[in-house]
Amino acid sequence: MAGKVFFSVSMSLDGFIAPESVPVEGFFAPEKQDDPQVQRWMAQWMELQQWIFPQRFFRENLKLGEGGEEGRDNDIVRETFERTGASVMGKRMFDLGQQAWPEEAPFHTPVFVVTHEKRDPWERPGGTTFHFVNDGIEPALDQAREAAGDRDVRIAGGGATILEYVNAGLIDEFSIALSPVLFGSGIRLFEGVDAGRVALEQVRAEPTQRVTHLTYTVHER
Ligand SMILES: NC(=O)c1ccc[n+]([C@@H]2O[C@H](COP(=O)([O-])OP(=O)(O)OC[C@H]3O[C@@H](n4cnc5c(N)ncnc54)[C@H](OP(=O)(O)O)[C@@H]3O)[C@@H](O)[C@H]2O)c1
Repeated sequence: MAGKVFFSVSMSLDGFIAPESVPVEGFFAPEKQDDPQVQRWMAQWMELQQWIFPQRFFRENLKLGEGGEEGRDNDIVRETFERTGASVMGKRMFDLGQQAWPEEAPFHTPVFVVTHEKRDPWERPGGTTFHFVNDGIEPALDQAREAAGDRDVRIAGGGATILEYVNAGLIDEFSIALSPVLFGSGIRLFEGVDAGRVALEQVRAEPTQRVTHLTYTVHER
């Protein structure tokens, strides 16, 4: 049986999933760390993601060190990982991530990167292989569905790619960890959404001390 197609992101209270875009080349290089633009991006990102970095599962998966919190936030991170049989992501998320992820990338499944760049598959230790798909979001999703078997496909991000899938009517469900931070500007999750087409039903709202977890199913109007 085919799984669901979903996304799960952290969002600021004013609707942003990332700070303003910055040039990604060498973003994490030591010489860039004194750049005020880079410092501001990192500070905002850490505030947005302040709920997830202390979680035990997240820390282990990203090789950030042992220990960590084990409450409901941790369960949600683990459940999201376990339901995912394959992921799809945009090229800008990939470009940033490939500089930040450990050698054993944190997906442990196939990942399909939608991009105009032609590139051979990139296999990492631990079961993650990145496949670069040049013919659009639907072929990427078809390949991800095939790879995921009866598990779900996660549209991992970023904003532009998620929006393409929402507007194409290809998302079944999504979750937002609503973070108590205001960005004012940045990458807005639903900028350009085809609101006349998309109807939502709230299926879960669960506050923890750090964030509010919201889940919606998506229906065509
Ligand atoms: N808050 C969260 O939970 C969360 C989660 C994930 C990501 N993020 C953030 O999101 C940001 C990235 O999002 P973004 O909106 O800037 O970009 P994105 O969606 O990651 O990538 C967009 C790029 O992907 C490629 N692409 C997308 N659709 C395509 C198509 N149909 N055909 C061919 N190529 C296609 C294009 O790159 P090319 O033309 O160069 O190939 C496009 O410029 C990052 O800052 C990341 O940290 C946040």
